[in-house]
Amino acid sequence: MYPELDTPALLIDLDVVRANVAEMAEVAATHGVALRPHIKTHKMPELARLQLEAGATGVTCAKLGEAEIMADAGIEDVLLAYPVWGEPKLRRLAALRERAKVRVSLDSPDVAAGLGRLGLRTGAPVEVLVEVDTGQHRLGRPPGRPTADLVAEIAATPGIDVVGLLTLAGHAYHARTPGHLAEISRREGTDLVATAELCARDGIDLPVISVGSTPTARHVAGVAGVTEIRPGTYIFNDTAMIRLGVATEETAASRVLTTVVARPSPDRVVFDAGTKCLSSDGAGTPGWIRAAGLPWLRMDFLNEEHAVARLDPEHARYGELPVGTRVQLIPGHACSVTNLFDVAHGVEGGRVTTELRVAARGAVR
Ligand SMILES: Cc1ncc(COP(=O)(O)O)c(C=O)c1O
Repeated sequence: MYPELDTPALLIDLDVVRANVAEMAEVAATHGVALRPHIKTHKMPELARLQLEAGATGVTCAKLGEAEIMADAGIEDVLLAYPVWGEPKLRRLAALRERAKVRVSLDSPDVAAGLGRLGLRTGAPVEVLVEVDTGQHRLGRPPGRPTADLVAEIAATPGIDVVGLLTLAGHAYHARTPGHLAEISRREGTDLVATAELCARDGIDLPVISVGSTPTARHVAGVAGVTEIRPGTYIFNDTAMIRLGVATEETAASRVLTTVVARPSPDRVVFDAGTKCLSSDGAGTPGWIRAAGLPWLRMDFLNEEHAVARLDPEHARYGELPVGTRVQLIPGHACSVTNLFDVAHGVEGGRVTTELRVAARGAVR
């Protein structure tokens, strides 16, 4: 399997990527909402371009560094879904705004004050989305009056233009059943729409209602009043998405190609990739790393450079998966894995056809 590559290596199946991109574009088009994919999953301008060509209106980034790399590649419409704080970053944001349309999300008057100074200094108000906590308890105040009051306070900041509300229902990753996932997703949308209505009654119109992750996007896109979805992981998918029922092994585009380097016992198989290739995200969750096409192999644990797996009793013999066998491991969290590789190898029609540089790898500032 792919003898031209040494292992471990990151493979991206571009046929699967294209199908995943088209499917989510179709979801957005069907519901009449904008699609603004989060690029933290792939960190590659080439793949952002693919998403834009399929109909995305712009991209979402977490960090300024990612946004700068996208702008370097000519991508001109960026939502920076992260509070931008401190003079060095505000200076970079000012420069970025000269070459791209940039909106920023935030959840505090403190961050608004800095952005407002930038807006006044440059004579162009900074457009912001106020983040709402719809249950993940990461950023934002609760929906309803607490957020409406925050919106009013931020809207009163000179140099700021509040254009919408944003949320990430990150707790959807822990949904217990498909029904539970659907319910979280629906609430993600209805909570924001109801809060925007409250703001409108306070005299502040918020045209942008930005929601949606890979698990929730297909449900929340249909909530009346939602205007934008921001899924990221969907382009690659991973075992977390398979567990939630929104992806399958066939739609998992990102794989770490590994080699069996040891068979210490009939049931134990050791691969040449550990947490430095696969990350620790999701570790311990049953099936958090899957060996493609080998359901009878169960990942036991990872060290930095070893993945230790077990064969089920029926396959537990030395002749099974001997040293030198190549296996594709499907990551537990595709986004973290991309960030661990300098390059990915694009696969088309089952053959390696291209090398992709992970341009925004490590862009954490
Ligand atoms: C603000 C924001 N929007 C969108 C997403 C995309 O979520 P997912 O990768 O589950 O599609 C994320 C994920 O971290 C996020 O933090």
